[in-house]
Amino acid sequence: MTTAEASVNKTVADIVSSAAHIAINPAPAVFGTTHPFFSSMTVRQFAPTEHTPAIKPYQFEPETLTRLIVWAASVALPEGAFGAELKKNLWLYGPTGCGKTRLFEAFASRTGRSLFTVNCHEDSRPSTFFGSWKLCGDSTSAIPSMRWVPGKVLQWASTPNSILLLDEADQLLPEVFMSLNAVLDGVPFIIDETGERITIAPGCMVAVAANTNGSGSAGGNGGSATLYKGTKKQNVATMDRFNVAQMTYLPEAEEIQLLQSLARVQPVIAQSMAKLATQVRAMFLGLNEDAGAGGMALKFTITTRNVLNWGMNYFLLMQMGKNSEEALYLALKITLLDFATKAEQDAVLAVLKNTVIGKA
Ligand SMILES: Nc1ncnc2c1ncn2[C@@H]1O[C@H](COP(=O)(O)OP(=O)(O)OP(=O)(O)O)[C@@H](O)[C@H]1O
Ligand SMILES: [Mg+2]
Repeated sequence: MTTAEASVNKTVADIVSSAAHIAINPAPAVFGTTHPFFSSMTVRQFAPTEHTPAIKPYQFEPETLTRLIVWAASVALPEGAFGAELKKNLWLYGPTGCGKTRLFEAFASRTGRSLFTVNCHEDSRPSTFFGSWKLCGDSTSAIPSMRWVPGKVLQWASTPNSILLLDEADQLLPEVFMSLNAVLDGVPFIIDETGERITIAPGCMVAVAANTNGSGSAGGNGGSATLYKGTKKQNVATMDRFNVAQMTYLPEAEEIQLLQSLARVQPVIAQSMAKLATQVRAMFLGLNEDAGAGGMALKFTITTRNVLNWGMNYFLLMQMGKNSEEALYLALKITLLDFATKAEQDAVLAVLKNTVIGKA
């Protein structure tokens, strides 16, 4: 085995390597997973900063967690570990409310990494990322003065082992996204406005969380992402700089657990809610795009966000004295059903009657 190979093996075994870590702990304890793949894995944890999110409950799906760990390993490999450049950026996409943004917060919070999130939109410009001169007031002088205000990319680049999250980056104009090419390549870049040369600190990582794969697909069978307004087809050279991970809603069993632990719903109701969510998702136009024979193509879905809200609204209504059936129905209407068309409401209520109410 060459020295470089030995070094890669050691790093992959340790998963995330950097001189700045403060602890190495078992992955199952860090991420709260019991999946056997992680049983003998260790994870490096870093000293939290003011930019490290607080830990909130999160259920990691094993394959997605594996991809995150590969991503973290890619920035930790020693120089020259491979002969070619390993991609260090991750494009995660999936339907609304499936837990994408929360995933990166959960990963950062548990590993002590700082997280710099840019909420991207059509009006984002290179200055949104890198910074701009702003006219600022000052308590010591009556006359405002121009001050350089660094953007999130500069804060990220100067914080070792931190994550830059480009949230909803598929909303960016492709030419604006291209201004991040040097950042995505991990090479030093110059800030035109100040002439400053920025070298990215070691261990820094970049991620996108988006509803589409950057080429107009929401991941369904038909390739259309028309429900995700404002998303744009990105330049293929931008996409080429990312590894990709498609994510979808949690499996029914895990959503049942979340409903019980986070929304305080009893097991039989949690099962019914998760089952209805699964059936409605199968009819969701944006996810499935082809609703299949006999299926009604819905223009809305029940996200994990909404399953949990359905559960919490149900809990509140039960506390107020509604019976279980009334509470299930009204809580669903409050959470999302009143947004739907009459035909969509009827389709969902039919599923509710057939699969849920009878068993509640
Ligand atoms: N795996 C999970 N564990 C715990 N909570 C979850 C999980 N997935 C989703 N949630 C819940 O769903 C909510 C929505 O998640 P999040 O905001 O990350 O969705 P998203 O995929 O980024 O949606 P959008 O595409 O609309 O931005 C979270 O605030 C959280 O309450
Ligand atoms: Mg999000």
